[in-house]
Amino acid sequence: MTTFTAEKPSGSKATIYRELAQQAEGLFAGERDGIANAANLAALIGFGLDDLNWSGFYFLRDGELVLGPFQGKPACVRIALGKGVCGTAAAKRETVVVGDVHAFPGHIACDAASRSEIVVPLVKNGVLIGVLDLDAPIPNRFDDEDRKGLEALAALWMTASDPL
Ligand code: SME
Repeated sequence: MTTFTAEKPSGSKATIYRELAQQAEGLFAGERDGIANAANLAALIGFGLDDLNWSGFYFLRDGELVLGPFQGKPACVRIALGKGVCGTAAAKRETVVVGDVHAFPGHIACDAASRSEIVVPLVKNGVLIGVLDLDAPIPNRFDDEDRKGLEALAALWMTASDPL
């Protein structure tokens, strides 16, 4: 791939996520580097979805989550397992959707603009690798369609990328 020319997807959430998945497959084609693919996926999501103020990765390093490629304001670098929305999703190995971050005990406010959040754990062959985290400046930005769409994108990244 030389130039990324795809249009920003529009339509229903299902359509948008389907198009993002196709675009992600195109970006990952022929590339196994997990950091490069994560950087492109963070950008694809950041530019492809409306009403986001942060999209990116944390990777598990020596038992804690460490900041990876992202789009948005500079963020907290290290998050302990079980802490914040990211650490909770990682510890539970389940996607966590938070409609109002102010009501989530222990939410870590990296960007004061964030009002809602979704965190998808990255689990490959039973091993926790990290999380994919999206923040929105409006409450209740993420629903079950987002969960399904983002879990599918995270799965594409894991399949396309070598271990970090
Ligand atoms: N809000 C997250 C921290 C990461 S930032 O949103 C980028 C949390 O509570 O884990």
